[in-house]
Amino acid sequence: MKLIAPSILSADFSRIGEAVELADRAGADLIHIDVMDGHFVPNLTLGPALVASIRKRTRLPIDVHLMVENPRAFVAPFHEAGADWISLHVEATAHLHKDVTMIREFGRKAGVALNPATPIQTLREILGEVDYILLMSVNPGWGGQSFIPSCLDKIRNLKAWLLKEKADIPIQVDGGIKLDNLEDILRAGMDIAVAGSAVFAAPDPAGVIREMKRIAARVAERKDI
Ligand code: DX5
Ligand code: ZN
Repeated sequence: MKLIAPSILSADFSRIGEAVELADRAGADLIHIDVMDGHFVPNLTLGPALVASIRKRTRLPIDVHLMVENPRAFVAPFHEAGADWISLHVEATAHLHKDVTMIREFGRKAGVALNPATPIQTLREILGEVDYILLMSVNPGWGGQSFIPSCLDKIRNLKAWLLKEKADIPIQVDGGIKLDNLEDILRAGMDIAVAGSAVFAAPDPAGVIREMKRIAARVAERKDI
C-alpha cells in the first residue's frame, strides 16, 4: 500500500478548510501538517488550534510533522487537538525514546523524522518503538524546494535495512516530490509521499492528487518492488 499525504503548507492559508476538503474528496490518504517554531527551522507556521479546526473538516488521519525544538512539549496539545500521527525530529530531542513512547501512550502513531544529513543508523535502537519513519528529502523549513538526489539512495538503504530487520515500518518521504519524480521515489522504497507545492501550487490540485494516487497504485501492484 502506497499512500499520498498532501501538505497544506503550500495551500492558501486563508482557505485551509477548503484545501483539506478538496484533498479528502480527491482521494488523499492523510493530511500532512507542518509545524515550525522559528528555532529548529527558521520559519514559523501552524499550531494545535489549526489542527482542531481542520479536524472538523475531514475524517482523514491528520499527520503532524513537528519541526520544533523540545517537541515533547507539543505532543499533548496536538494529541488533544486531534492529530492521529505525530512525528518529531531525532535532531530536536535528547530523549527520543521517551518522546516516542509518550505519543504511543496517547494512542497516536509515532514517527521519527530525519534531516537529509542525518544517518539512518541513528534509528537503530528505536526501530521497535516507531510506527513510521520520515526521511526529509529537502532541508526542512519551506515548501517548494528541490528533491535532494542523494536521498534516493538513503531511501533504498533504509528499505533494505528494514527488510533485513523484518521491521514492517512505513517510510514517509517529505520534500520536493512532484508528479515527475514520484515513481522513482516510490520504487526506491517510499511508502508515504508528502507533497505540498506539487499539489497546492498547481492549477488543479485535485487532479494532481488523483494522478499521484494512480502512480502509487501502479507502483504498488508491481511484485518486484
Ligand atoms: C518542508 C515540509 C514539507 C513541505 C513540502 O519543511 O516539511 O512537508 O510542505 O513541500 P514541497 O512538497 O513543496 O517540497
Ligand atoms: Zn513536512
